[in-house]
Amino acid sequence: MIIGTAINKQFIGTPILENISFKLGNNKKIALVGKNGCGKSTLFKIIAGILPYDSGSVVATGDTLAYIPQEFEFPETSVSEYLYSCLENEWEFYKIDILKEQLSFNNYSDSQLISSLSEGQKMKLKLIEVMLTDPTVLLIDEPTNHLDIDGIMWFESYIKSINKSVLMISHDRQFLNNTVSEVWEIENRKLTVFVGDYDHYKEEKAKLKKDLDNRQKKYKKIYFDKLIGSIKSDLNESKTPTKITDKSIKVNDDINSIIKGIDGMLDK
Ligand SMILES: Nc1ncnc2c1ncn2[C@@H]1O[C@H](COP(=O)(O)OP(=O)(O)OP(=O)(O)O)[C@@H](O)[C@H]1O
Ligand SMILES: [Mg+2]
Repeated sequence: MIIGTAINKQFIGTPILENISFKLGNNKKIALVGKNGCGKSTLFKIIAGILPYDSGSVVATGDTLAYIPQEFEFPETSVSEYLYSCLENEWEFYKIDILKEQLSFNNYSDSQLISSLSEGQKMKLKLIEVMLTDPTVLLIDEPTNHLDIDGIMWFESYIKSINKSVLMISHDRQFLNNTVSEVWEIENRKLTVFVGDYDHYKEEKAKLKKDLDNRQKKYKKIYFDKLIGSIKSDLNESKTPTKITDKSIKVNDDINSIIKGIDGMLDK
């Protein structure tokens, strides 16, 4: 299990993440979602241990983690040279063959330069690299960005088939719906966990938004009713025959049309 507790992170005085807590493990497939720039990649880097945070803690108990960042580059080498350089021990080369088989990493020659591979093949190569460490938890930042439709379908079935915990950032609704059973959302620097698939998360969000809109509407109505009440009573008080002038009638008309407008807005 990887347990994050009360994590806070600022960049140059700007708070990005506030009081973030989570539990990651038990082979769950989870989506991390949120608007662009809300701090998803920042949280990934913190969990992966490559970015310091201001307070809180991230503790791994019995789990090992691998992280595939949003953008990655390879050196100008061949596929086989690169894969062998990723091995901790040379005698483990058989693992490369097993992983190639598992990930259907084919249609290339061993001496081929990585730069000439397709985006989908590069993604598979990255997956082979991280799988060589046999992690129990995978963090993958926007994997579907690198893949075409066939690649996404392949990746979807691969994620479903592996017996590992996976936390993924993605904006691909269909992909997430088909893979995850939990959605973590970062909004206004806070993390909220929604248990269920992506559609369930969207339904819950719509309900929460409707509740919030209704509450705001109610408070606005109470506020405007009070305001209108006091404007009306001021107008009534000023309607003594001696005080009525052309100008005050004009002002009264303007205020009445504003009130009608507000009433109309509140009735919607
Ligand atoms: N090293 C840094 N120094 C200063 N600000 C940073 C740094 N890294 C990220 N930020 C800022 O922190 C905020 C969160 O960035 P982050 O990359 O985590 O967002 P994100 O949710 O992954 O966005 P996207 O969906 O676009 O990938 C952004 O406003 C970003 O500009
Ligand atoms: Mg990001």
